[in-house]
Amino acid sequence: MNITHIEHIGIAVHALNQAIPYYESLLGLSCYAIEEVAEQKVRTAFFQLGQTKIELLESTDPDGPIGKFLEKKGEGVHHIAFAVEGGLQLALDQAAEQGIQLIDKAPRKGAEGLNIAFLHPKSTHGVLTELCCK
Ligand code: CO
Repeated sequence: MNITHIEHIGIAVHALNQAIPYYESLLGLSCYAIEEVAEQKVRTAFFQLGQTKIELLESTDPDGPIGKFLEKKGEGVHHIAFAVEGGLQLALDQAAEQGIQLIDKAPRKGAEGLNIAFLHPKSTHGVLTELCCK
């Protein structure tokens, strides 16, 4: 698999309007986009740091993936996303060949129009891992 950089770090928060001021006022970053991903039942806020983004995730439904995460673990790092070159399906096939449990067997559309797929944290030493490809 050809990973070029960390595309983003996903962080679950209770409320974007409470978390964004921390990133803007203290860390000096600026939120350049807020986007709802209805299929994932989240609203996301993005900050850019070099090649990497911070993706804040607010749940829009307590039964959605972020709603469940917040209930179980509270706010915190939810996933790490790696940028993959050379095609996402190829990367997923390589992962499957090595016995990695795939959450998504085929790429799907994520925020910002990227193709994304998740690897199960049981197979990745505890880190929910997202692969992204343009
Ligand atoms: Co993500």
